[in-house]
Amino acid sequence: VDQTYIMVKPDGVQRGLVGEIITRFEKKGFKLTGLKLFKCSKDLAEEHYKDLKGKSFFPKLIDYITSGPVVCMAWEGVGVVASARKLIGSTDPLQAEPGTIRGDLAVQTGRNIVHGSDSPDNGKREIGLWFNEAELVHWTPAQAAWLRE
Ligand code: GTP
Ligand code: MG
Repeated sequence: VDQTYIMVKPDGVQRGLVGEIITRFEKKGFKLTGLKLFKCSKDLAEEHYKDLKGKSFFPKLIDYITSGPVVCMAWEGVGVVASARKLIGSTDPLQAEPGTIRGDLAVQTGRNIVHGSDSPDNGKREIGLWFNEAELVHWTPAQAAWLRE
């Protein structure tokens, strides 16, 4: 079963969108396995976005992600990585389709309110980066039989 790392970025927290964003994934039918409010260090932000090191916007990106609390989430489910990316929408919120989180709630790439892992391997890597094993909960939702045959 796939796992993805979803994070409400500092702008999403400051704008009071945490509940709205969690609700999108809950309603879809994925399983929450980790959740915390967290102020991340520069080192962690740089490790998380290491593939973007060298991009002109990298320093601004690190300032943005470390500028306030973020909400870290681990979600589990068949196909959750790709589906979460669809729910989130395009990187540039002006290009993101209405109905997606960024398409409905944001206007600029540098303030796009939420992160989602881009592959199952990165989902595992990022959950390992942001959570301790003891913070992850393995449980069976009561509605499981009503979500999948
Ligand atoms: P994440 O889910 O946050 O990883 O976004 P993404 O996968 O849609 O985009 P990508 O991984 O390519 O970039 C990571 C983040 O860097 C984006 O979500 C933006 O916050 C930021 N970013 C990407 N491109 C730009 C840019 O051209 N300008 C600025 N200011 N920020 C950018
Ligand atoms: Mg990305």
